[in-house]
Amino acid sequence: MSRPDPADYLDMAALPRLLDALVTQGWFVGERFIDTALCHSLQAELQRLKTQSHLDEAGIGRGQAHRVQRDVRGDAIHWLDRESRAQRQYLTVMTFLQQTINRALYLGLFEFEAHFALYPPGAFYKKHLDSFRGRSNRIVSTVLYLNPAWTTTHGGEMALFDPDDPASEIARIRPNLGTFVCFLAERLPHEVLPTQAPRASIAGWFRRNTSLGSSIDPAR
Ligand code: OGA
Ligand code: MN
Repeated sequence: MSRPDPADYLDMAALPRLLDALVTQGWFVGERFIDTALCHSLQAELQRLKTQSHLDEAGIGRGQAHRVQRDVRGDAIHWLDRESRAQRQYLTVMTFLQQTINRALYLGLFEFEAHFALYPPGAFYKKHLDSFRGRSNRIVSTVLYLNPAWTTTHGGEMALFDPDDPASEIARIRPNLGTFVCFLAERLPHEVLPTQAPRASIAGWFRRNTSLGSSIDPAR
């Protein structure tokens, strides 16, 4: 069996835009960025995980501080573990993206961790940062959406906020199948607005090796 070729599963033509957007504004959104068939496979896997009760209530905070808080976030998650071909394909694509970002921007991204997430109707994730400067090694956040028939009445958009004025919304992104978002984890406040329909995604983070320290300069 041949190794998956990342070029078959992502929109190569969008990569220069992704790199430029990360540097100039700290975030990027691409529609149909990830191959549609792969997104459908991932979506089917997430449904299966739910049916088989393999999703856990998501919490906030790491280690000792970890706790479930329904008034902050209401999704259920499953960490990617390379169990399926679809997962392995997606992780291959993310490794390729990691190398692409490192070559262009010298961010020293070292590894990628990700989980499936399912928000039931009524769920949301209050405004937050994925990483605090100097406190974590999450450098670039990613989200891939897996919802084939999303409409405006379903809500559930991700809102992005101005790093220099966190009260001011700068973008609102619909969780359509194949849409991919990435942003600087320490810079971009963001929020998942209440969803009216089950909302499927994969949230992931490129990290730096903690031993390298976490005093990265933001790209702007
Ligand atoms: C997260 C997150 C955004 C989204 O999981 O940290 O912010 O749109 N997800 O699902
Ligand atoms: Mn987040």
